[in-house]
Amino acid sequence: MTRIWILLLSLCMNSCHSQEWSYSGETGPANWHKMYPTCGGENQSPISILTTEAEEMAMLNFTWTGFGDDPPNGASMTLSNLGTTVQVNFTGDYLISGGGLTNTYKATMLHFHWDENGVHGSEHTLDEVRYPIEMHLVGYDFEKYDDFDSALSHPEGIIVVATFLEITSEDNPNYSEMFTGFNSVTYKGQSYQYPSPFPILPMLPYNTWDFYRYHGSLTTPACDEGVLWTVFVQYQQISHDQFSNFNTLMSNFEGEENVPLSNNYRPVQPLNGRSVYRRIDGELAFSKSTEFRINTWMTCVAVVLYYWTTSL
Ligand SMILES: *[C@@H]1O[C@H](CO)[C@@H](O)[C@H](O)[C@H]1NC(C)=O
Ligand SMILES: *[C@@H]1O[C@H](CO)[C@@H](O)[C@H](O)[C@H]1NC(C)=O
Ligand SMILES: *[C@@H]1O[C@H](CO)[C@@H](O)[C@H](O)[C@H]1NC(C)=O
Repeated sequence: MTRIWILLLSLCMNSCHSQEWSYSGETGPANWHKMYPTCGGENQSPISILTTEAEEMAMLNFTWTGFGDDPPNGASMTLSNLGTTVQVNFTGDYLISGGGLTNTYKATMLHFHWDENGVHGSEHTLDEVRYPIEMHLVGYDFEKYDDFDSALSHPEGIIVVATFLEITSEDNPNYSEMFTGFNSVTYKGQSYQYPSPFPILPMLPYNTWDFYRYHGSLTTPACDEGVLWTVFVQYQQISHDQFSNFNTLMSNFEGEENVPLSNNYRPVQPLNGRSVYRRIDGELAFSKSTEFRINTWMTCVAVVLYYWTTSL
């Protein structure tokens, strides 16, 4: 009798603790849509970006407020092991504008996708290259919504800014501070508050004016759509030593059997006719309504030209 109770208890502990979704097997990406229907939607991320297929679009440069050496007033940063990724949450007005965005966005977190060998863990592919690591800086429309959750799944409510990372022999000093927290978040549910916020801008590529832009989704369940994506062309670098910090992370709670946290990237999703844009220098703001206005305007010009030439 006692044995049965122990069996039931351990079954419960397994299922009560097991994640609702994962990166492999029955709860893996191929089956996410069964529990989270939006994951089977038409506008999903990540995608394969092909330079030859991208349309050029004029946009302003990004403006990064609070991302440099002087952090926003009262800013703080906390590192968390979420079991599916390692994430830095921020508080404070980290604001992103320009870059073809219609409104100002407030960044609230950054997290990573990688593979255990540090070879091909990125989510997007660029000209069929899969990079070792992809970093996502995530923000919400700060002018329209009160917080991240209320902005979710609204058109352009959320932005994700993606940076690819390569692995080299040289330490990247601009990532050193972030990695100091990793040994405090080995297990799922653990978190670590940094003594002071570190600058985020130097972790992005130097060139933040050359990027791809498209409409997609979150790359983890519930895969909410309405996400406006930025994928930088230039990549950043960290060293092998720095990468080894990722391999200390576990996807389980402390005291459970260790399951390394890695290979947390979703396969690329069908484009389904969506446009992918590459920024060129200019002043146009990017949005569906802008596209519409330009199309309408060009149609008018064409019609006028047509009647003018045929009436000659
Ligand atoms: C964007 O930044 C680049 C690099 O600094 C610069 O060459 C370009 O003139 C800037 N474009 C605009 C529209 O400000
Ligand atoms: C960081 O944000 C995530 C949601 O994205 C949340 O689950 C987690 O608890 C947060 N971490 C801390 C320490 O607040
Ligand atoms: C690190 O940041 C400094 C200051 O922002 C910058 O000059 C340097 O190029 C950055 N290094 C890398 C590898 O990005």
